[in-house]
Amino acid sequence: MPAAAISPQPVEGRRGMVVSDQALASAVGAEILRQGGNAVDAAVAVGYAQAVVNPCCGNLGGGGFMTLRLADGRAFVVDFREMAPGAATADMYLDAKGAAIARASLDGWRAVGVPGTVMGLDTALTRFGSLPRAVVMAPAIRLAREGFLLTAADAAILATGTQAFKADPTLAAIFLRDGLPLQPGERLVQADLAATLEAIAGDGPDAFYRGAVADKLATASAAGGGLIAKADLAAYRVPLRQPVTCSYRGYDIVSAPPPSSGGTALCELLNVLEAYPLGYLGFGSADTVHLMTEAMRHVYVDRNSALGDPDFVANPVDRLTSKAYAAAIRAGIDRDRATPSRDLGPGVAPHEGGQTTHYSVLDAAGNAVAVTTSLNAYFGARVMAPGTGFLLNDTMDDFTIRPGAPNLFGLVQGAANAIAPGKRPLSSMTPTIVTRDGKPFLVLGSPGGARIITAVAQAIVNVIDHGMTLQEAVDAPRIHHQWLPDLIYAEPFALSADTVRALAERGHRVVLQQPWGAVEAILSADARPAGAPLPSFADDTLKLWQPSPGTVYGANDNRRPAGAAAAP
Ligand code: GLY
Repeated sequence: MPAAAISPQPVEGRRGMVVSDQALASAVGAEILRQGGNAVDAAVAVGYAQAVVNPCCGNLGGGGFMTLRLADGRAFVVDFREMAPGAATADMYLDAKGAAIARASLDGWRAVGVPGTVMGLDTALTRFGSLPRAVVMAPAIRLAREGFLLTAADAAILATGTQAFKADPTLAAIFLRDGLPLQPGERLVQADLAATLEAIAGDGPDAFYRGAVADKLATASAAGGGLIAKADLAAYRVPLRQPVTCSYRGYDIVSAPPPSSGGTALCELLNVLEAYPLGYLGFGSADTVHLMTEAMRHVYVDRNSALGDPDFVANPVDRLTSKAYAAAIRAGIDRDRATPSRDLGPGVAPHEGGQTTHYSVLDAAGNAVAVTTSLNAYFGARVMAPGTGFLLNDTMDDFTIRPGAPNLFGLVQGAANAIAPGKRPLSSMTPTIVTRDGKPFLVLGSPGGARIITAVAQAIVNVIDHGMTLQEAVDAPRIHHQWLPDLIYAEPFALSADTVRALAERGHRVVLQQPWGAVEAILSADARPAGAPLPSFADDTLKLWQPSPGTVYGANDNRRPAGAAAAP
């Protein structure tokens, strides 16, 4: 039941919706839908536009996952995750004593994985799109060549990279003005990036993976002590994978398989929660938070230890996403006491031993696309090959650098995710489509590294269990637990003081943190069963909030204020 007060109404549309965390990129997607493109055309156009207008996170030099579900029910995941270069080794970020070298997997050319975005977007367009490459790339090329005016939110994200830009003349020339951060209202022109995009529009992925761009990348990588060679770029491939699927309270979930942990962990989490009456227990109550925390704690044991690139290790996805396994986990959850994380781990029954960006698209025909893509940290490894105009990822940090050592997101991971040549690091990206009776209901995902999975799960639970409107579900303060460290992270206002006390009495430790993630979501009202109305004090609010048939809602997460939902 919507509160009808805590969030604005989401953006409404009737012929589709595009939501991303940069308003100009969302507008590009809506324009492609208006031109008659399908959801894949629009998503590819948004992806290239994001590389221009959202340089922290949108990218050509990173990777990600695209979950797509076509109107005929077929569903695929385009895996454009980065790959370790051929010269990579399991101990490449360790010193002679076997200790992790601080920031070695995060900063500079040695941290860069072979980028996947260009081949990923092109594979999606070629297989499932309907418009020519030059048409879907034209808006991105225009935004790079002519530039765009920075909003305060754009400038704020760019300002977080100031120190890195100052340290690198190639970055300073683009992202600083006279050595100072760009201000709101200034125009960001990216001529080299425009030229790279034009080359891709003309010659396709070969322009990136084999042509002059590949030469520049390999040369700059070698000069900077990196490992990416021209042979690594030429060898890069994009598999089309079968999504992970599961059900939750009569809804069907379609999400990303390994090498992302996202879909598997999301399904495992929802399966465990399904038996608990979360709607009855209430949003933010100590009972609900306790049960969600215990479920998350178990899920991250598996996420961190059992999963890796399926081309290298066997992933027990069927077992982890089964209802029987969820029941086994529930059997170990005490309704009244926290389980210390030290008592759980790989091999302890029932377990065996960023900053990213997300965009969602739904078209009028019912094709749904959810894309999560990343440079990993803001601005990735903070390196750019001169003349190319795009930043490179530091996604190598998503591998297990050393078993037991936490990565950028505090994840303590195992051997299944060890570095090997040509291997893809385990991700938490969770681009997800939820359907009801075969119709798309939700299209969503989030940035946030390890917190992506729980952010997506909470948005789903907020809509399905707590009956929130889409915007309320996206805006509602979140919690997160990831097994290690053994803490509940809580956003401001997520938990009242007496809830925190009640959780402490059960053995939990709560740590307040700045908000995280950014769920960019679409909801189709047609696939939502009508909820029972609450008695009203006066009928002057709720009747204004009733969705009408055929309405599609889009909700940008205001944790990323540069974003927007745009209806075609
Ligand atoms: N780079 C964050 C993730 O893929 O999970």
